[in-house]
Amino acid sequence: MEYTVMLPAAGSGKRMGAGFNKLFLEIGETPILIHTLRVFDSDPDCAGILLAVKPEERGQIQDMLGQFGITKVKALVDGGEERQHSVASCIEAHEGAGVVLVHDAARPFIRRDVIRKLVDMASAKGAAIAGVKAKDTMKMARNGVVEKTVNREALYIIQTPQAFRYEVLHEATKKAEEDGFLGTDESMLVERLGHPVHIVESTYDNVKMTTQEDLVFGEVLLKRKQEEDLDDADRTRL
Ligand code: CTP
Ligand code: MG
Repeated sequence: MEYTVMLPAAGSGKRMGAGFNKLFLEIGETPILIHTLRVFDSDPDCAGILLAVKPEERGQIQDMLGQFGITKVKALVDGGEERQHSVASCIEAHEGAGVVLVHDAARPFIRRDVIRKLVDMASAKGAAIAGVKAKDTMKMARNGVVEKTVNREALYIIQTPQAFRYEVLHEATKKAEEDGFLGTDESMLVERLGHPVHIVESTYDNVKMTTQEDLVFGEVLLKRKQEEDLDDADRTRL
């Protein structure tokens, strides 16, 4: 089923400490941003990509799109102060309805089967987000002292993509703007409407490249992905 993806890419990557937007850092000699774009550029179900960028990085990113042969970017919009503002710029630029995905440009290892499940669930129910079950024992603490152990069964670690029927995301964003509400993900804005948000089980390797050690993990994940792609190609030949 067809979808449009919105990729916020207008951050500064402070926690990575590179001194520039972390999305320009390379994994296997290709920028993180390009790895993420390729996932969607190569997906036949993806109708278009809306990319939020910092105005001062627009030229550099435009050049990269040409250099790496990315063809599905329909609009490069100006990102904002916070991630939510960058996503809002993408929503403004979107024409038409259907299912839209919001995905951190800093998560290059999202799998296509998870994308499919999210799109199908959002189409049927209005809102669906990627998440994995917490693996570790989880505790609530105050000032470094445990208050209680939380029931792990009920806890999910939430990632992106987050998928919505366009009108649901549009209404949620409009309401958040009116109320001056700032959330850490799009789901929070939709939850405020009282609209149910469904969780689609994702994979633990859909990591966000946030700090230096994530890059080490990223190199390993890329090698594995390249091996999987080779295996797939072998299977197709047989
Ligand atoms: N993002 C954005 N606009 C912002 C802030 C973030 O488009 N004002 C994007 C980032 O480029 C990234 C995604 O949102 O693809 C997730 O944000 P995060 O991982 O926090 O990236 P940064 O904000 O760049 O990193 P940091 O918080 O460490 O500064
Ligand atoms: Mg940030």
